[in-house]
Amino acid sequence: MAVFLYSLLFVVFSTTLFFFLRSSRCRRLRLPPGNLGLPFIGETLQLISAYKTENPEPFIDERVNRFGPIFTTHVFGEPTVFSADPETNRFILQNEGKLFECSYPASISNLLGRHSLLLMKGGLHKRMHSLTMSFANSSIIKDHLLVDIDRLIRLNLDSWSGRVFLMEEAKKITFELTVKQLMSFDPGEWTESLRKEYVLVIEGFFTVALPLFSGTYRRAIKARTKVAEALSLIVRQRRKGSEAGERKNDMLEALLAGDDGFSDEQIVDFLLALLVAGYETTSTIMTLAVKFLTETPLALAQLKEEHDQIRARKSETAALEWSDYKSMPFTQCVVYETLRVANIISGIFRRAMTDINIKGYTIPKGWKVFASFRAVHLDHDHFKDARTFNPWRWQSNSGATSTGNVFTPFGGGPRLCPGYELARVILSVFLHQLVTQFSWVPAEDDKLVFFPTTRTQKRYPINVQRRNVTKLCKD
Ligand code: HEM
Repeated sequence: MAVFLYSLLFVVFSTTLFFFLRSSRCRRLRLPPGNLGLPFIGETLQLISAYKTENPEPFIDERVNRFGPIFTTHVFGEPTVFSADPETNRFILQNEGKLFECSYPASISNLLGRHSLLLMKGGLHKRMHSLTMSFANSSIIKDHLLVDIDRLIRLNLDSWSGRVFLMEEAKKITFELTVKQLMSFDPGEWTESLRKEYVLVIEGFFTVALPLFSGTYRRAIKARTKVAEALSLIVRQRRKGSEAGERKNDMLEALLAGDDGFSDEQIVDFLLALLVAGYETTSTIMTLAVKFLTETPLALAQLKEEHDQIRARKSETAALEWSDYKSMPFTQCVVYETLRVANIISGIFRRAMTDINIKGYTIPKGWKVFASFRAVHLDHDHFKDARTFNPWRWQSNSGATSTGNVFTPFGGGPRLCPGYELARVILSVFLHQLVTQFSWVPAEDDKLVFFPTTRTQKRYPINVQRRNVTKLCKD
């Protein structure tokens, strides 16, 4: 009995001390206001349960209403400053490497590989970021990638009939496109078997990252080894070819030819992470654009009209050209609006490298910050009627009601997404081929899931019917 009483006293005393120390430190540092929740788990459960419902907004809305757009919470085992403020988000993004640095848990780096662009820092990151940018910029897309994008999307759509799981199809297309861009491989048995392993790696990102408890994580690590082996083989073969004077116009060539003298391991990690970064994001945006358009028939009708007009100027099989891409103004509105509403990457985590003063508050050294893009994109102060899909808002101006950097689906600063242009072109070409070749209805009711990224519950099954394309085209 005495032991029990002592233990009880100890728990009460340490909990009181914990809250006391925490609140006095908070007052000393002028932390942003907020609630750190329960010891150890903080507000993690509230966050996860909110993001597992159809409407996750209240988690941030309630705190913004109570504390303002910068508030403190405690999630995933750490005190974290949340920002729903565009200026603060911009400050965080721009000060990458100076005041803030990206930080991923070890479980993620095990899957990505330590030489991935997402984990690189300093001068090497800068060089590799600009190398990646130079492989996905508009002139490369225009002169080189657009042909493959158009051809591979068309090839995939050729086999569509009846019921189609849009999310699956979009993933297949995205993977094939990325492999082509990185290593010049056309789709075939090799790419499909690589994709199967690769899907297992991706599942590892969405699970409890404890090998002892999670079979999915164990499978992901195994699959990562297999993918890395397959890529290593290609790198070795290409290195030999390169030494013998063979040249290809792809990312791998640039890595092999660069002055940095990268090892095979570095190249493999780099390629693997590029596959990860573009795969879920681009395929999800393709799926969600179709979902939002299906739910907004007026927008779908206007989009169809724009693409039917483009096709009417061309023969049925003629590839899309850069000038066609540049004559899709309403499509660009749809692309922007999908990015704004979907918020596939809802924001970014960073770690404060030093005590940072911002807007009268201090973010202590070592604390996590989360710049929420979603909160800004869905804020009525920045976008009128912000929670409605309305592509027409982009017709008049930037779509935003306030000035400033309020639209950041691709992040910003030194870690700005290098695939931002590529993703937009892929989505536009996909929409062109889809609406000119097919009409469709959803095969089932499918809902959005928001945690850990935005996607659909059932991979968005649709029933497709082929349109008579010849009718649209120039003879
Ligand atoms: C709709 C599609 C996409 C969205 C919404 C998206 C979004 C983002 C965001 C928000 C970041 C910033 C992460 C951070 O600051 O920590 C990022 C980084 C990145 N993205 Fe994308 N992305 C998309 C497509 C792509 C594609 C197609 C590629 C392939 C080239 C790609 C490659 C990358 C890479 C390599 C990074 C890391 C950059 C770095 O840390 O320096 N993304 N992306």
